[in-house]
Amino acid sequence: MKRIGVLVSGRGSNFEALAESVASGRIPNSEIGIVISNRDGAPGIQRAEARGIKTRVIPSKGLEREIYDRQVAAVLNESKVDLICLAGYMRLLSPFFVAAFPNRILNIHPSLLPSFPGLESQRQALEYGVKFAGCTVHFVDENLDAGPIVLQAEVPVLDQDTEATLSEKILKEEHRIYSEAVKIVLEGKFKIEGRRVLRTN
Ligand code: GRF
Repeated sequence: MKRIGVLVSGRGSNFEALAESVASGRIPNSEIGIVISNRDGAPGIQRAEARGIKTRVIPSKGLEREIYDRQVAAVLNESKVDLICLAGYMRLLSPFFVAAFPNRILNIHPSLLPSFPGLESQRQALEYGVKFAGCTVHFVDENLDAGPIVLQAEVPVLDQDTEATLSEKILKEEHRIYSEAVKIVLEGKFKIEGRRVLRTN
């Protein structure tokens, strides 16, 4: 049985999609061991509680980055997680945290990286005028939205799209590929060569 730790700051729809995939067996032989939020009152925490999943709020306000990350890492280690999934976790991770879980942290980002890292990626894509947008699941390193890419999905940008409609279409793909990527990684059916994540059997 593999254990997943999920870090959220807000809405928690990607957490919910992962929880649903675990429950339905789309991500087999696994459980969500803990959901941690840096924000009190994050809807993601309420969603986890509603599913009977263990939660912890660890407020980050005023704490130096590494001091904070050490607290989060301690809780994740206590919960014996095999994989950490960032799901709308609005914090940069310290080099300490990244080194503590090598190739064991995944993030979902709402753009086709390396285009449009950072915040409001869907709006950035729309304003830039790209004809395809999408989302990316990647391993996390010390740089923002930058580690090796596990999966991507594309979404056409239509003339009538607004930030809201585009975000909605991308989110649907996020929910699909995040579960798929977690399955690949938990089953160990991959190898990393340089920046490339290659599938193995
Ligand atoms: C998603 O768009 C995700 O790609 C980005 O933050 C948003 C989180 O949404 N990193 P949710 O909290 O999972 O609903």
